[in-house]
Amino acid sequence: MSALLIIISLAATVAGLALFAKAVRSILAIVRLGQADPTRSNNRGERVKTLVREVLGHTRMRKWSIGGIAHWFVFVGFGSLFLTLVTAYGQLFSPEFAIPLLGHFAPYELFVEFISWATGLGIVTLIGIRQATRIFRPARKSRFYGSTAWQAYYVEATILAIVFCVIALRGLEGALAGETSWNWHYALSWPAVLAFNGLSATTLKSLIVLVAAIKIVISMAWFITISINLTMGVAWHRFLAFFNIFFKRNANGAVALGQLPVMLSDGKPINFEDPGDDDIFGVGAIENMSWKGILDLSTCTECGRCQSQCPAWNTEKPLSPKLLITSLRDHAFAKAPYLLALSEDQKAALTDEQRAEAEKTLIGDIITPEVLWSCTTCGACVNQCPVDIEHVDHIVNMRRHQVLVESDFPSELGGTFRNLENKGNPWGMNSSQRNDWLTELDFEVTVLDGPIAPEVEYLFWVGCAGAYEDRAKKTTKAVAELLHRAGVTFGVLGEG
Ligand code: HEM
Ligand code: SF4
Ligand code: SF4
Repeated sequence: MSALLIIISLAATVAGLALFAKAVRSILAIVRLGQADPTRSNNRGERVKTLVREVLGHTRMRKWSIGGIAHWFVFVGFGSLFLTLVTAYGQLFSPEFAIPLLGHFAPYELFVEFISWATGLGIVTLIGIRQATRIFRPARKSRFYGSTAWQAYYVEATILAIVFCVIALRGLEGALAGETSWNWHYALSWPAVLAFNGLSATTLKSLIVLVAAIKIVISMAWFITISINLTMGVAWHRFLAFFNIFFKRNANGAVALGQLPVMLSDGKPINFEDPGDDDIFGVGAIENMSWKGILDLSTCTECGRCQSQCPAWNTEKPLSPKLLITSLRDHAFAKAPYLLALSEDQKAALTDEQRAEAEKTLIGDIITPEVLWSCTTCGACVNQCPVDIEHVDHIVNMRRHQVLVESDFPSELGGTFRNLENKGNPWGMNSSQRNDWLTELDFEVTVLDGPIAPEVEYLFWVGCAGAYEDRAKKTTKAVAELLHRAGVTFGVLGEG
C-alpha cells in the first residue's frame, strides 16, 4: 500500500513540477511579447523598499480590513509551511521523519501550528467574504461578478485541505511519539493528538503515510491545475504580484495616476514633429502593449475591487475595469501561440481556434468601443488595485491608437478635437477672450507675459474650463478673490 502511495506521490510531483516549469517559461515568453519599457527598472533600491512595504504590510489591501488581515495569514502560510511539504516527502519513506535539527524544536513546531491555524482561519474568512458577497450583493453589485468562480473555490479548497493535512499529521505524529499529556511540542494540535491516541503504532504509521501522500498530491494537483490554466490569476498572482509591484510606474510606491506617461514606441518616446514610419501609436493590438502591460494582465486576481469602485460600472455602463483587464488577458494568452510561432512549421501547427483569435481586432472584438469610451479616467480602479494594475494607462493607450491611427472616436469628441486644433481650447473660443473673466473682478490681477517678476509669489493656473466655461469661471473668480484678500501676490498667464 505505502509503495503505491509513494509511486503516486512521486509521479504527481514529477508531473506537477515539470508542468509548472513549462508554464513559467510560457508566461515569461508571453510577457516578453510586449514592447520595451525602459522606465520600469530605475531606482531599484527604492523599488525594493516599496515592494517590501506593500507586500509585508499589505498596504494596498486596505491594511486593517478583515479581508486584508485574513489574506496576510494565508500569504504568510504559503511560504512558512513549505517545510511541512518537505516533511511529508520524508514521511512517505519513514513515518517518524522530522526535519533535522528543526523538526522537534518546540518553537518551530509552535510556529508551524500557529501559522497553520491562522492560515485556516484566514482562508475560512476569505471564503466567508466571497460567499456573503455572492449572497447579499447579487449580480452587478458583487465585486466578484464576472470573476471565474471555480478557480477561486479551487484555491480556497486546496488551502483548506492542506491546513487540514498539516494538523492531522501533527496529531498523528504526537500519537506515534506516545505523548500522553499536553506539552509545547504539540501545543496547538493537542486535540488532534488526543483524537489519534489509542491507535496502534502500525495504524498510526500507515495513516501518516496516507495523509502525507494526500498532502503531496493535493499540492501537486494545484501546480498541475495552474500550469494548464495560465490565465488563472487568482492562483498565479502568488508569484506574479511581487514582480508587478516591483515594476510599477512609480518607484516610490505612488499609484499610476496624475500626468500620463509619454507615448513610447519600441521603448522610445515618439517624436511627434517627425515620427518614424514604423512608430506604433498607442495600443491597437495586444502585442503593442508593453511587457509591463502584459504582466499587469497576468497578475489580476479577479478580486473586483476596481469594479466595485468604478463610476461607469456603478451607473450601468458596459465598462468594468476588472472585465476589461481579464478580457485583454484572455486574448493575450489565446493569441500568444500565433505571435510566438516564427517558423512555417510552427505556423502550420496552429489550431483553427488560435488563427481565429489572431484575426480578432483588439478594439471591436475584444474591447468594444462602448467599453473603451465609458471610462471617465477618474482613477478609482488604479487607486484600489492591490496588485498595482495600471488600468488608466491601458485605456488611454487604446484610445490614443483609436484617435491617432484609426480616427475613430465618439462623435461628441469631434467638435472638441476640431476646437483644440483650430483654437487651442476645447470650447472653440477665441484666445482673446481667455482673460475676459478678469474684467468681472473689482481688483487688478497681474497678467504675466515673459519672465515672471520676483514679486509675483504664485502662478494661478486657470486652465481652459476656468477661463471660458461660465460655471467654472465662478470658481476661478472666487479663488482669485480669496488669494487677493489673503494678500497673496499672484499672476495668471496671458492670452493664447
Ligand atoms: C503581494 C502579494 C499579494 C497580493 C497583493 C495579493 C492580493 C490578493 C487579492 C487582492 C486577492 C483577492 C481576494 C480579495 O480581494 O480578498 C487575493 C486572493 C488570494 N490570494 Fe493573494 N496576494 C498576494 C500574494 C499571495 C500569496 C503569496 C498567496 C499564497 C498563498 C496568496 C493567496 C491568495 C489566495 C488563496 C487567494 C484567494 C482567496 C479568495 O478566494 O478570496 N496571495 N490575493
Ligand atoms: S478610471 Fe475608468 S475604469 Fe477606472 S474606475 Fe474610473 S471610470 Fe472606471
Ligand atoms: S485589476 Fe486589480 S483590483 Fe481589479 S480585479 Fe484585478 S486585481 Fe482586483
